[in-house]
Amino acid sequence: MCGIVAYLGDKEAYPILVNGLKRLEYRGYDSAGVALLHEDKLTIYKCQGKVSDLEAHVGDGPTTGTVGIGHTRWATHGPPNDVNAHPHQSTSGDLALIHNGIIENYASLKEELVHRGHTFLSDTDTEVLVHLIDDIQRSEKVDLAEAVRLALNSVVGAYAIVVLDRKDPDVMVAARKSSPLVIGIGDGEHFAASDATPIVEHTKNVVYLEDGEIAVIDRKKGLKIRNTKNQDKTPFIQELEMHLETLEKGGYDHFMLKEIHEQPRSIRDSMRGRLNLAKGEVVLGGIKDYEQRFVNAKRILIVGCGTSWHAGMVGEYLFEEFARIPVEVEYASEFRYRNPVVGEDDLVIAISQSGETADTMAAMELAKNKGATIIGICNVVGSSIARITHAGSYTHAGPEIGVASTKAFTAQVTLLTLMALMVGQKKGVLSGSSFYRLLNELDAIPDKVQRVLKTEDQIKYIADIYKDASNALYLGRGYSFPVALEGALKLKEISYIHAEGYPAAEMKHGPIALIDEAMPVFVIATKGASYEKVVSNIQEVKARKGKIIAIVTEGDTVVKGIADHVIEIPETPDALVPLLSVVPLQLISYHIAVMRGCNVDQPRNLAKSVTVE
Ligand code: M6R
Repeated sequence: MCGIVAYLGDKEAYPILVNGLKRLEYRGYDSAGVALLHEDKLTIYKCQGKVSDLEAHVGDGPTTGTVGIGHTRWATHGPPNDVNAHPHQSTSGDLALIHNGIIENYASLKEELVHRGHTFLSDTDTEVLVHLIDDIQRSEKVDLAEAVRLALNSVVGAYAIVVLDRKDPDVMVAARKSSPLVIGIGDGEHFAASDATPIVEHTKNVVYLEDGEIAVIDRKKGLKIRNTKNQDKTPFIQELEMHLETLEKGGYDHFMLKEIHEQPRSIRDSMRGRLNLAKGEVVLGGIKDYEQRFVNAKRILIVGCGTSWHAGMVGEYLFEEFARIPVEVEYASEFRYRNPVVGEDDLVIAISQSGETADTMAAMELAKNKGATIIGICNVVGSSIARITHAGSYTHAGPEIGVASTKAFTAQVTLLTLMALMVGQKKGVLSGSSFYRLLNELDAIPDKVQRVLKTEDQIKYIADIYKDASNALYLGRGYSFPVALEGALKLKEISYIHAEGYPAAEMKHGPIALIDEAMPVFVIATKGASYEKVVSNIQEVKARKGKIIAIVTEGDTVVKGIADHVIEIPETPDALVPLLSVVPLQLISYHIAVMRGCNVDQPRNLAKSVTVE
């Protein structure tokens, strides 16, 4: 959480920082701030609220300076208010610092620094960093870069920081450990940011800092990297593949809506070059060297959080059906703290859109230390999770900016489907004809998603009827159970309606008590293995006056006769239904949230990358 951006070059920093903060706002949006350095004058603006509130706060105030840092916050230590907003300043007023992460030993450091005469103004953990660096600079008589290095050696926790020193306006120092930081190298200018989105419109050349690395950006000497052990490192410059238009709303009212509508393309991109119908094969270049590990795996563990965990549940059904490998799906946050039985025989699949989720990362590290093979499914190229796996596949969904995950889910499920089919074929579990039929069906999914999107007007109509509900229930069986969970998560996170996902047959063991005429019940009732059973569950809801909104297979007449509303999706094998059935649920949540006047892309209390546990 929290987004940081910094600039040093020959242009005015302020517009670059504000624009960058708007791109990073998905990471946190409870307060924002900038520090600008002009000659030896440091100007800081910060306030509670969004980046637009910061702009209003700055108003016509002075913004001159060709070096500056900016921050958008998601509060951990201390409430969101003006004082706790970053940048934080040293007592001397010389240093300004922005931080993304958590300093775990801040309390003991603070006690010592207070004792040494530093005055703390905020409730944040971050503030200890700026006082500590300032203290070391003075007592050790070292420059900013060395003071940062020495300070970081006493810090426990996670950080991406950028520091400015009023006494040396030609230098900016950035460092990272467990929180992401990218350095952009332009023509006579440098950038630093939590991800590449604020950088891509200025330069395509970037360096992803590794854990424990410190970047010293000097107006005259350029970029130098060393680590906290004082060893010089050679910057590894990579070219960004990101395109600017993927970061814009492209005519849609919200990023979430754009991302829902992008799914025919993002699913296709996730299959491109991997699903080869002509040759009848699946080739996943990123895990090629690990294919045999999959084939021989006695067990697969899947870890993730939120929507990625739901995708993992679909993965469980896929691997068990097509490859006959037992699978356990674990909340990363639970897995990491319960001394799990995991070892060299295990193959762990870590799923994450952002590639930065702290719990997922910790679960992977734990499994890796116990000897397991770690395979990643990530969307953000170069992210921390992608870099600590043994191997993996990117989802190629493109940047997902709406906090509610949509296209990342379908891209993750697409990749899991490709993996399970590939392993099933290589193990001989799937016959050639079944494998080929499923490949064809998968290849047809993007066009079918396009057809589902055409139901949007009908979905808007349904959304209008149920927009004032206080509770909602989502039911599904088999492959549709994880989709029910995902539908409920989408509704609660953006519209603040309490919603629960349940296996349809479990309803009678408790939730049925909740059903009355005010309860909308969304049911995935497509033709397939459990169709008749789900129809019975629908009857049970109707008998108690619940309102049924059913996702059915095109041409269904049975459910149409019982349900209050039906949304038709094209026919596809059970295993591929999640890729279609989730789309109307995404749309319904989106339209309900819009009708309730909620901030769809930036729901309250949430952030896109959850980089704290
Ligand atoms: O970036 P990740 O996929 O690791 O994120 C995991 C969850 O934080 C994320 O899916 C979250 O639940 C979304 N807000 C769901 O829409």
